[in-house]
Amino acid sequence: MIIKYIRPVILILALVVVFSFCAKKESDKIEKGKIEMGIKKQSFGKTPDGIDVDLYTLTNANGLKARLITYGAILVSLEVPDKNGTPGDIVLGYDDLDGYIKENPYFGAIVGRYGNRIAKGKFKLDGVEYRLATNNDENHLHGGIKGFDKVVWQAETVQKKEAAGVKFTYLSKDGEEGYPGNLPCTVIYELTNADELKVRYEATTDKATPINLTHHSYFNLAGQGTGDILSHQVLLAADYYTPVDEALIPTGELRPVKDSPMDFTSAKAIGKEVDLVKGGYDHNFVLNNQNGTLALAAKVVEFSSGRIMEIYTTEPGIQFYTGNFLDGTITGKAGKVYKKHYGFCLETQHYPDSPNKPNFPSVILRPGEKYTHLTVHKFYASQE
Ligand code: BGC
Repeated sequence: MIIKYIRPVILILALVVVFSFCAKKESDKIEKGKIEMGIKKQSFGKTPDGIDVDLYTLTNANGLKARLITYGAILVSLEVPDKNGTPGDIVLGYDDLDGYIKENPYFGAIVGRYGNRIAKGKFKLDGVEYRLATNNDENHLHGGIKGFDKVVWQAETVQKKEAAGVKFTYLSKDGEEGYPGNLPCTVIYELTNADELKVRYEATTDKATPINLTHHSYFNLAGQGTGDILSHQVLLAADYYTPVDEALIPTGELRPVKDSPMDFTSAKAIGKEVDLVKGGYDHNFVLNNQNGTLALAAKVVEFSSGRIMEIYTTEPGIQFYTGNFLDGTITGKAGKVYKKHYGFCLETQHYPDSPNKPNFPSVILRPGEKYTHLTVHKFYASQE
């Protein structure tokens, strides 16, 4: 009697399981244009010296989500739909503040006062020699020991008709990490309904100073922690790059990319020639557009998810870094272990070591002038 009923019962149970799995998959999908745009503020904990850190979640009308914290003005996650409409977090990072404070290779951070290296932490300006904090052997990297990525920024929300944003402000004091001049800085992140993440920078100073602000997300368009980024296809709008010495300091030369592994003028997989570049890509590319207007700098395509990212910038350079120093010792979000090449950075910027390279575009900001920089990350997905 019981045996007679067992098979249909098992069949019904199996159908229920399959149905609820499919229903869940459907509900994971984002319905374009149907989500309420918004900004949510929450606590993200306290720094060891007791300063409150806040988390802002920006959501656009298509369900893209950017989560930003006041510590380092860090983008802690960025959820973007794939070709099936299923959202995925495409930037590396940590689940909590502790992770960012203990050891952060600049995941998602705003880098300043000077992005990338200044040789021997020294430069001369108007006849005066300045000595900066050194934190990369004998060189100065990403603003020094306590750069803009390690300070708590003030924040206020920015709500527009077609965008949700956060405006971060920070006053870098005269003498901080060795730099001259008080430098009030503003960084505004906006998530627009056109599926763009815009980063807009502004600063002024009361003494001449070098400045080079950038954003340092490590991307993996297949989803953070899912594997290496070697099959991503990259295009860079750059006919020249700045070769470097052993310590990754530019030699001063602008070299054509043509006929070298540095040639990304047509899209190619990152992994195609990465082994021909000692250590992996960690180079500044000289963008073809040098006139300060917004122009396409890079396009990245990841076929399995269909996700595509385009980067537009007003800056003259872009640092292409392929996560060469990730070595499996960092456990990031959702317990994911980050190994070599698990993320790539495309940092829009002026060239490294410009304060010591008179032939590079100037990075000197003087009293009465305004530093401005706009970078736009545009996201979409393709079925191909
Ligand atoms: C630099 C790398 C550096 C990395 C730190 C990149 O911008 O070019 O050399 O190791 O930042 O995470």
